[in-house]
Amino acid sequence: MQISPSILSADFANLQSELDAISNADWAHVDVMDNHFVPNLTLGLPIVEALLKVSPIPLDCHLMIEDPDRWAPGYAEAGAQSVTFHVEAARDPRALARTLRAAGARAGMAVKPGTAWAPYEELLPELDMVLVMTVEPGFGGQSFMADQMPKVAQVREAVRRNGGEIWVQVDGGVSAKTIEQCADAGADVFVAGSAVYGAESAAAAVDELRALAES
Ligand code: DX5
Ligand code: ZN
Repeated sequence: MQISPSILSADFANLQSELDAISNADWAHVDVMDNHFVPNLTLGLPIVEALLKVSPIPLDCHLMIEDPDRWAPGYAEAGAQSVTFHVEAARDPRALARTLRAAGARAGMAVKPGTAWAPYEELLPELDMVLVMTVEPGFGGQSFMADQMPKVAQVREAVRRNGGEIWVQVDGGVSAKTIEQCADAGADVFVAGSAVYGAESAAAAVDELRALAES
C-alpha cells in the first residue's frame, strides 16, 4: 500500500519544504494541467525538473494535458520516476507507454470517471500502473465518487488475470473516510491532496492513511 500526496494542495511558494514535509510518503504526486484537457492550469516540465533535484521521494507525474504523445516523454527523460497520461488524450497509448518505459519511467495510464475500462485491458502488458480517477480531473478538494469502485475492482481483476505486478491508483477525494473502500476494491496506490496538506501534520496524515489502507 503506497501513499502519494498531491502537491496541488501544497504551498506553491515553498514546494521544497512541502516535499520535505511528506518524506515518509512513497511518492509525491505532481498534477500537470494545461487548461485544455482540463479547465485549470498548474505547472509544467521546468518546475518538475526543479522538483526532481530537491525531492526526497520519487515523483509521480499525472499529466492532465492534450497531446501526451508529444509531451509526456520529456518528463520521463527528465528523470520522473512515474509518468501517467490520460488515455482519452493519447493518440497511440501503446506506443506512448513503451516510450515512457524506454526512457526509464514507470508508465501509467489514467481513465476519467466517464471512461470505461474494458476497451483498454489489452494495453495492460505495456503498463506499470492504471489510475482510476475518483473525481473529474482538474481540481483538488472535490467529493469522492464511490461509483468508481466497481471500475477499480474491474481493473484489479484484469491485473490479476494478466498475472502482472501492475499497480492500481485512485486519485480524487481520497481521505481517512474513503481510503478503506478504495483498498477493499483493489487499489494499492492512493493519491491524497487536501487530506494530507490540509491536515495539521502532513506526515501524520500520510501515516494515518497508510495504516487505514493496510487495515
Ligand atoms: C485532480 C488531481 C488530484 C487532486 C486530488 O484533478 O488529479 O491529484 O490533487 O486532490 P484531493 O485529494 O484534494 O481530491
Ligand atoms: Zn492527480
